[in-house]
Formats: sequence, structure tokens, C-alpha cells
Amino acid sequence: MTQSLTLSRPDDWHLHLRDGAMLRAVLPETARHFARAIIMPNLVPPVVTGADAAAYRDRIMAALPEGMDFTPLMTLYLTEDTDPDDLAAAHASGLITAVKLYPAGATTNSASGVRDFDKVRPVLERMAEIGCPLCVHGEVTDSEIDIFDREAVFIDRVLDPIRRATPGLRVTMEHITTRDGVEYVQSAEQGLGATITTHHLVINRNHILVGGIKPHYYCLPVAKREEHRLALRAAATGGDRRFFVGTDSAPHTDPNKESACGCAGCFTATNTLSILAHVFEEEGALDRLEGFASLHGPAHYGLPANDGTLTLTKGDAVAYPQKIDTGEGPVTVFDPGYPLHWSVQA
Ligand code: NCD
Ligand code: ZN
Repeated sequence: MTQSLTLSRPDDWHLHLRDGAMLRAVLPETARHFARAIIMPNLVPPVVTGADAAAYRDRIMAALPEGMDFTPLMTLYLTEDTDPDDLAAAHASGLITAVKLYPAGATTNSASGVRDFDKVRPVLERMAEIGCPLCVHGEVTDSEIDIFDREAVFIDRVLDPIRRATPGLRVTMEHITTRDGVEYVQSAEQGLGATITTHHLVINRNHILVGGIKPHYYCLPVAKREEHRLALRAAATGGDRRFFVGTDSAPHTDPNKESACGCAGCFTATNTLSILAHVFEEEGALDRLEGFASLHGPAHYGLPANDGTLTLTKGDAVAYPQKIDTGEGPVTVFDPGYPLHWSVQA
């Protein structure tokens, strides 16, 4: 008997599409399966104003192949100079869905991020007033803090103080990687959700470092110890509405990954749904995949779930490309390390 699973069409609540030739190459990989995605604004230069977001949205729609149905949910990149009126107008018109906070220097293209969190307090207050959610890259950047501790320290030093000072602000903790992140989200009474990536459900830090360095498993926040991966799997598959998928699919070309100073990011758009079905089946939670992939995210953002459906069927090993060709060079597709058997029906 064929096993199959039909879900309301999923969304990706954290996605990097880049621009130009890379955008044209990676967009179909997401739009094939996902109806909507929160589009990260960390271009060079970043998407900081409403006008930047409108122009970027137009470039994304122009790159979308005929016949594909996909809605980009735009974000602004929060800087110490963000104009609250421009932000409020972009939110009121429906142009943007959220605003992204990157601590300066935390990750790829984050040099224009926030250094002094007091400087963005008025913007955060305005966002709380107008109901515009804040997406947070939750890592401190202080050089004396160990890279594996940066998420936990961020929660105590930055995130919790921001949430206490701005109680009405709706916050998404992006790509949580630790038990500390899971527990912090579970401890919140309201207004806090978290995305979990596909790859953090699959790899721990051994995958990056044991038996030779594996640049395609390096991303930020970096994968942690096994106990943290297990906490993420329990959160993702446990049915708690505060957790939902944000792939953080982040394409970099192979030369930029396989380098003496390799870029952070795993490219998972192509096989994310097959991997998620595999993980949820392993956890005996296939009936909860729809919540994680299709229902909890819209509820957190106050949007309806999608009308369409997507069907996964279990069968022979799924064939997917090892690399995607882009006009900028090849991009390696995330390898979970085992064959996948759940394929998305065309
Ligand atoms: C992202 C990128 O490449 O833009 N990289 C990553 O490792 N996740 C940035 C980010 O989300 O931190
Ligand atoms: Zn990201």
C-alpha cells in the first residue's frame, strides 16, 4: 500500500533568496513546494526602506517562472537609522510582513545591523503599537563569548530585556539551535514563536567537524551538541503551536563555501519537505507535520493557512540534484546523510 500524506500547502518562515542570477536559480526550488516565504533582507546593500522592499519584491516576482504560485512576504532590515514612519507605512500598506533584527556582525551581511539596542527602542515601540512582528537573529557577537554559547547569552542579555521593555511586541526567534531557545519560547505566555530549520533537526556539531571539516554543514547559528538537536526535534514534532518551519535555506556557491574562510549557510530548499517527512516519521509524528509546516506559522503571523494542498508519498529513494546550477556557480544541496523516501507529488 502506498503511504501518502496530504497537507495544507506549507510556507517557509525564514528564507534567503538573494538577487540576480542566484535569485533566478533558487526561487523555483522554494516556489515548487511552498506557497509563501518570509524573505530575509540581508542583501548587499540590505533592504532597509519601504522603497527597497518594494523594488526587491518586484525583482522576486519578475524572477518567478510562469505558472508558479508564490507570494514573498517581505521584511525590512532594522538599522539604528530605521525611520519608524517609513516602516509603519510599509506595514500598513501590506508591503512588509515583519522587520528583521541582526546584531551587527552576527552573520552573513550583517554589518549594518544593530550595535546599541537602546537606539532602536523607539522603532520597537512603534512596531508593538502597529502590530508589526520582529524577527530576531538571536546571537550575541561579543568576541569573548564562545560561539556555541551565543544564543543562550543573547536570550538573557538582549532578547528578554527587549521583550520586557516592549510587552506588546510580537517576536519570532529565528532558527533556534539550543534547548535554551526551546525552553525560553515555552516559558513565554504570549507573543513569542520560533522557527526551526530543517538542517538543525538533522545535524549536530559532529557532522561539521568529525572526519574532516564539512563546509556544507556550516551555518549560523552553528549546529550545537546532540542534546540540543534532540530538544529541537522534540519541539518541532511535539505539536506546540509556537514552533514552525523556517528553513533558513541560504545559498552560497561552492567556491564560497569550500574556502579557507567559508560562508555560513545550508541550502535546503530543494529537499526540505522530504527531510521533514523523514524526521517526523522517525519521531512517530507524521500527523503533526502539517502543524509545523503549514498551520502554526500563519497563526503566529495572523495570516490564514493556504487553500491549496501538497501531497507527499513514500516510495523508492527520492532523486534530487546534488547541486543546483546558478549563473554565479554551483550551489550544493544539503545532504542529510541518508536516502529520502518521501517525495512531493508533482
Ligand atoms: C545566512 C546567510 O547566508 O545569509 N547564513 C546562515 O548561515 N544562516 C544568514 C543567517 O540567517 O544567519
Ligand atoms: Zn537566515
